[in-house]
Amino acid sequence: MLQDRIRRPSLLDKVMSPAEAALFIRDGMTVGMSGFTRAGDAKAVPLALAERAATEPFGITLITGASLGNGIDEVLTRSHVLKRRLPFQSDRVLRAALNRGEVMFIDQHLSETVELLRSRQMGPIDVAVVEAVAITREGGIIPTTSVGNSATFAILAEKVIIELNIGQPAELEGLHDIYIPTRRPHREPIPIVSPDSRVGLPFIQIDPDKIAAIVITERQDSSAETTAPDDETRAIAGHLIEFLSHEVRKGRLTETLAPLQAGIGSIANAVLHGLIDSPFHDYTMYSEVLQDSTFDLFDSGKLAFASGSSITLSAACQARVMPDLRHYKSRLVLRPQEVSNHPEVLRRLGVIAINTALECDIYGNVNSTHVGGTHMMNGIGGSGDFARNAYMGIFVTKSLAKDGSISRIVPMVPHVDHNEHDVDVVVTEIGLADLRGLAPRERAEVIIANCIHPSYRELAADYYRRAVRDHGGQTPHLLAEAYSWHLRQEATGSMLP
Ligand code: COA
Repeated sequence: MLQDRIRRPSLLDKVMSPAEAALFIRDGMTVGMSGFTRAGDAKAVPLALAERAATEPFGITLITGASLGNGIDEVLTRSHVLKRRLPFQSDRVLRAALNRGEVMFIDQHLSETVELLRSRQMGPIDVAVVEAVAITREGGIIPTTSVGNSATFAILAEKVIIELNIGQPAELEGLHDIYIPTRRPHREPIPIVSPDSRVGLPFIQIDPDKIAAIVITERQDSSAETTAPDDETRAIAGHLIEFLSHEVRKGRLTETLAPLQAGIGSIANAVLHGLIDSPFHDYTMYSEVLQDSTFDLFDSGKLAFASGSSITLSAACQARVMPDLRHYKSRLVLRPQEVSNHPEVLRRLGVIAINTALECDIYGNVNSTHVGGTHMMNGIGGSGDFARNAYMGIFVTKSLAKDGSISRIVPMVPHVDHNEHDVDVVVTEIGLADLRGLAPRERAEVIIANCIHPSYRELAADYYRRAVRDHGGQTPHLLAEAYSWHLRQEATGSMLP
């Protein structure tokens, strides 16, 4: 019954087709759409926009929570609707377009976008398009599998379009905790003191008169594309678990660890899977994306609670978890991404942050975003929010890419997302470098000894020795040579001489 999902009777008149709703979005507008790492994205209206652009060319600035599923970024790119895009993406077609300079991409810390909108340093938002599982009697919007930036988009937008997804389980209601930080400069502390703190409302509170359209959909979230753990990701997980065990033996952590954050992708997923057979128990997650591993850890009885901003699952895990959501619900909460990634809360909770590096240099500076220093991969996402404010900022990466023609530990990264001050631990399948309390020269020695692949080790050691001998400094480098590995790879296809 539609009335069960649209509980404010006056809103029933607002139901219309995606094409009709899309007419509220016009050339030059800034549109905020729900969607975070392929979960809870608006699905029908963006496709209707692309269809309209075939006969009536127009362009928009699109802001979301993070990446979208259902090929939406691809379709909007191909139809030339996208002029500007922020704060994160992971689509192959959009990636190519923004690297050609056709779409302007603003790569942002995920916690910051709505702060900039709220303080009118960006924006305004003309239209918000938010996927919902239901609308309350008061006109409150109950999101689906992600919260992302949806709450603030809806609060700030002039008009709100709701994509009511009747294919999503009604059981999602009650999962969300919508807390909106108060105005600066006298902002109250965010009262989250543990991952399971509930401090907000279970719906997005807006003036119902702003709801301009309701579109009914049943389209499902795209499933996650994580690859299964392999020998290398298992080795990375093994080194990290051994390190955390050492921290417990030293009395710096207990067997319940500290709240865990793990970035998206196969390595982070493998590390979390590795925790199933570890000595740790009753631990929690305070993360942004909850992947398959979260639910596998629940099923193993080891994970006590998980807080995130989205649930992004493989098709198999979706089929297992969604019909049985009731079973997990008391141990889960979904928050706005500015809260899941908030510096204040991360510092308070003391999160162990585990993110993936594209490459890392011998001093521990990390490039997460720019292939070869120039070409955007996905974006910084939440990795900077977490790494800088964590109890411990850990970066994981395989030591090699492209069959060994690329070393992911290099003399100097050609783009820095996370500088040496935010990187506490680096782990590859070769080993782990604990950089805490080390000076740059000490960091270089431990990274070269422990993390770099043997096929590049002597090359790196030689570079470092000559940098110390011939140039010196706090952070010794040979600037004429620092990017020689990248230049060689560009010229010959391999970083190896
Ligand atoms: N130079 C060039 N290409 C590289 C590379 C390097 N140094 N390192 C990796 N690659 C390539 C890989 O070969 C692979 O390409 P392929 O798919 O054609 O084989 C691709 O980049 C992905 O690498 P992979 O090792 O499979 O890692 P991943 O899928 O876990 O992604 C990041 C790694 C860094 C791209 C990804 O984690 C990311 O976008 N991070 C930034 C955002 C973030 O950290 N968010 C955290 C909160 S969710």
